[in-house]
Amino acid sequence: MILPNDLEDLLELDLFLDIQIGLGLFFPKFSLNQIKGVNYYLCCGYETIKSINMISQRIEAQLNEQVKSEAFSSQLYLAMASWAETQGFEGVAAFMYKHSEEERAHMLKLIKFVNERGGHAIVPALEAPTSKFDSLLPLFEELLSHEMEITNKINELVHATLEEKDYTTHNFLQWYVSEQIEEEALARTILDKLRLIGDDKGSGLYMFDRDITGITAKSANDATEGTV
Ligand SMILES: [Fe+2]
Ligand SMILES: [Fe+2]
Repeated sequence: MILPNDLEDLLELDLFLDIQIGLGLFFPKFSLNQIKGVNYYLCCGYETIKSINMISQRIEAQLNEQVKSEAFSSQLYLAMASWAETQGFEGVAAFMYKHSEEERAHMLKLIKFVNERGGHAIVPALEAPTSKFDSLLPLFEELLSHEMEITNKINELVHATLEEKDYTTHNFLQWYVSEQIEEEALARTILDKLRLIGDDKGSGLYMFDRDITGITAKSANDATEGTV
């Protein structure tokens, strides 16, 4: 709620200046103090609506944790892309560079949401990700286990929004729930193909690297959209 001392500050904002000018035009006989009084009550109403829709400190903290997780995902996949590039796996490198960008987009989406809801998104410090892998199989095994960890974190966050009765954040997070289903399904499809290649490290891996950007996974989301 706005305190009277904050009124002068608020009047400096364009929005409230516009309201004040509008009041002055429609009610030219009002004194300046009367106009300021009406404006004050409008400001109080605005702040009340804003505070009702604000995220709680608990949800803000957990969303900021998720910002960190998505940022780390982006760095991890960037490290995987760089390693693959040095090993001559151009297709895998392109796939991982793109995946890294997508994780950055997931992080940005969270940052924007936290700030729009009256919180403060914090850009976190990150640990260095693994930079060397024995081969493509352990690389994609690590990717799948990382995505499963992220899925757990999203689920915990969704659970917290229900406990806090924060249905706006709950609704916002459904996009992440669907995204995790797709990402896990894709990682499992890729791992299946790598296990099929088995010991055929020559032409098998060559073709895998050539075709990876075209690999897609049918997930439960596709079934609900009628595309299976
Ligand atoms: Fe993500
Ligand atoms: Fe992901």
